[in-house]
Amino acid sequence: MQRFFIMRKIKTDIYEVGGIDWDARMFDGLIPLPHGTSYNSYLIRGSEKTALIDAVDPRKRGDLFRHLKELGVDKIDYVISHHAEQDHSGGLPAVIERFPDAKIVTNQKCRDMLIDLMPLTVKNFTVIEDGQSISLGNKNLQFIFTPWVHWPETISTYLGEDKILFSCDFFGSHYATSRMFVGDDEGFVYQAAKRYYAEIMMPFRNIIKRNLAKIEPLDIRMIAPSHGPIYDRPEFIVEAYRDWISDDVKNEVVLAFISMHHSTEAMVDKLTEALMTRGIQVKRFDLTEPDTGQIAMALVDAATVVLGSPTMLGQAHPKAAYAALLTNALRPKTRFISMIGSFGWGSQAVKQVSGLLSSMKAEMLEPVIAKGYPNDADMKKLDELADSILEKHKSLDIA
Ligand code: FEO
Repeated sequence: MQRFFIMRKIKTDIYEVGGIDWDARMFDGLIPLPHGTSYNSYLIRGSEKTALIDAVDPRKRGDLFRHLKELGVDKIDYVISHHAEQDHSGGLPAVIERFPDAKIVTNQKCRDMLIDLMPLTVKNFTVIEDGQSISLGNKNLQFIFTPWVHWPETISTYLGEDKILFSCDFFGSHYATSRMFVGDDEGFVYQAAKRYYAEIMMPFRNIIKRNLAKIEPLDIRMIAPSHGPIYDRPEFIVEAYRDWISDDVKNEVVLAFISMHHSTEAMVDKLTEALMTRGIQVKRFDLTEPDTGQIAMALVDAATVVLGSPTMLGQAHPKAAYAALLTNALRPKTRFISMIGSFGWGSQAVKQVSGLLSSMKAEMLEPVIAKGYPNDADMKKLDELADSILEKHKSLDIA
């Protein structure tokens, strides 16, 4: 099939040369990609040296090489490696094979991880320190260590002459779009970027606060991530991140549930209504066919999480257990958790789910577990749980 390169010039001597993956639907076998993604790579031509920022997923290295050829690139001096994960570095061995004199510029931690993950030798590397710069002649690249966005080695690069921050996963969005810049698509990009933050960065929220503090003194007119479009109004995404990483929670309950024979479902319906009548927003997810990205996004803000599960073989339903495991791994800033559900003859579900949520620094509110189909007393307990959630939210001044 004939493929055409669309020249993606950002500014004079700066180009986006990576690949758009319109058809990708899953990342890491876990994260749904409803809108595809892109693996951005940036070429910067200085008066003396040429640098390539990030080296795309191996599946898109053909696009990368085609774009470099179209631009007449016959020499690369530096390949800046922000992050060892294969979607930005998997193309590195092929880039080094094509441009054998190029140095891979990265920090010690990323260098070590790259050598562990792919066939590269120590002689390919130039190791830099936090804050260090390299010169391309009329342009200088300053490296800012921004760990845990999303692995421990991650780096951003600031091009001061053009006031561009190249941020790799940080501020990124899984969004395949023909737009190079966000422009007036901020509403859609907000959702995609929030989904991305929730899925891979939320557990490192406190470290991201420090990363934001490091970049705030810089005069940034553009943020160029390695997934999704470039932010031509960077304050939009920086403001969004400030909100997501803040300690503030919203007057919301994430109510994730699964039901086998409608007992748990009846309890979920009752609690939903009880919370609504108390002015509390309910974000409700049926775990039968869940979009984990949507759940993760809801967890960014909610003050409370309630898990609904029937008992299956004495334990929580496996899909509810999975939701608890996922929530625990994402470590949202949720303040209160609880559980509702049902059992036939015996259940260890509450104990099991409490164990699965052991990393959560949240207060457990009294669970409501019904024997069989919920009776009036069970429904009353759900009203009491809603009262308790309201009181807790009031104590945070959000209700
Ligand atoms: Fe886009 Fe952590 O890789």
